[in-house]
Amino acid sequence: MYTEKVMDHFENPRNVGEIPDADGVGQVGNPTCGDIMKIYLKIDDGIIKDIKFKTFGCGAAIATSSMVTEMAKGKTIAEALQLSNKAVAEALGGLPPKKMHCSNLAADALHAAIQDYQNKQNK
Ligand code: FES
Ligand code: FES
Repeated sequence: MYTEKVMDHFENPRNVGEIPDADGVGQVGNPTCGDIMKIYLKIDDGIIKDIKFKTFGCGAAIATSSMVTEMAKGKTIAEALQLSNKAVAEALGGLPPKKMHCSNLAADALHAAIQDYQNKQNK
């Protein structure tokens, strides 16, 4: 049912945790199931230097969280904003149709964290 990549990211999730002095934090909830994802960013010179996540959710949500952190790390803010939920699911080799909604959190949480960073910059 799940691809090897999904299982790998579920069993060995990358970049789990918090960044205490994060430059941006984003949290989103999935209306379909109530799961929650939180992403922390460290941004320097417009580049995502560090990224960590905490996800209260299913295996697919954890795998997509892990994958989005790997995809975003080292990217510019503009590039990270281009990352879509679909791209994250595709990078995992796809998700079962019933679990596609689980990928809706990953890029949304990343974008929310970038938005938070940008709001703080404008203060
Ligand atoms: Fe939340 Fe899947 S419904 S774990
Ligand atoms: Fe809730 Fe997967 S069932 S995100």
